Amino acid sequence: MPHAGYQSLRWDDGVLWVLDQRRLPGATQYIRADAVTVVADAIRTLAVRGAPAIGAAAAYGLALAVAPAPGDDGPAVRERLERAATLLRGTRPTAVNLAWALDRVLRSVAGEQAAAALSQRVLAEAEALADDDRRINRALAQHGQSVVPRRSTPVTVIHHCNTGSLATVDYGTALGVIRAAHESGQRLWVLVDETRPLLQGARLTMWELEQLGIPAALMVDGAAAHQMRTRGVDLCLVGADRIAANGDVANKIGTYQLALAAKAHGVPFYVAAPTSTIDLATAAGDAMVIEERDADEVAVVGGRRMAPDGAAVLNPAFDVTPATLVAGIITEVGVVRPPYAENLALAMARGKSSTVEA
Ligand code: MRU
Repeated sequence: MPHAGYQSLRWDDGVLWVLDQRRLPGATQYIRADAVTVVADAIRTLAVRGAPAIGAAAAYGLALAVAPAPGDDGPAVRERLERAATLLRGTRPTAVNLAWALDRVLRSVAGEQAAAALSQRVLAEAEALADDDRRINRALAQHGQSVVPRRSTPVTVIHHCNTGSLATVDYGTALGVIRAAHESGQRLWVLVDETRPLLQGARLTMWELEQLGIPAALMVDGAAAHQMRTRGVDLCLVGADRIAANGDVANKIGTYQLALAAKAHGVPFYVAAPTSTIDLATAAGDAMVIEERDADEVAVVGGRRMAPDGAAVLNPAFDVTPATLVAGIITEVGVVRPPYAENLALAMARGKSSTVEA
């Protein structure tokens, strides 16, 4: 069960309840998603966000699309399934977990023609995927303990964006590593990048860390290098939206400059992600599609326009950190180290063949 009584997603009796992350931390409100279009909208507008959470939401979106309806026959249900998959696939381009989840569910019903069986099996696969995510994150968090120094004084960690329970079905990835270290008794101090422009760090990570009782301080993204130089930072921990076969990592905009600063100051920079975020079909970061979002996300702050009317704005939602800056990639099958071209392929093979334990 998630801590403190909130869940990013909850399936209940034919309805997906989506915690509306746009309203956090001010309000804990759930969107009642009873149609795939509601789920697609929630993903597009970041009511649900974070690569693993997006994947699970999309899987449930398929289940909503093929829910039994009067007069259903096999071809009609399959057509709804295909249309829903196309709709959901187009919502956000960078997080590979979205396409991965859709493909996993579609594969699970390949060849199935009967309407009732299609409805049941799509839902069963969505639930299995969500359960796997819960287990995988806990396994990943345990593997991640090997990169957290053990000592009696607090370990200082910089974290970017939000990678906690909110960004997953439960527990989190990079924030899961931090949470497990805290639960095992290690003292920590988390420096939280606010994560412009949508403030996932300020709004979501600070909220989660507060509920977990983990000491944390919020800072602007531009403060990370200063903290490394003046305070001593032990490590950086971030998540990922897509990891290429060569180890290049797409993650929230600002990750790359954090990794550069870490390199300059000798701070180990780790990425935590499930193997479902590893995309061996993409050779290197340059081939990844980077989502560009609306200019107003940057130019308007708190409802007030900060830039002159008509100012040109760049708003890439993600950037690519070259593999050379990444000390290791923490997955549910272990910490993958360079050379990534070899070791990511091995991790993927292990991920497919092994049962991940909670
Ligand atoms: O635009 P967002 O909020 O969906 O971006 C999220 C991130 O970049 C996360 O770091 C990433 O998805 C990993 S979440 C475990």
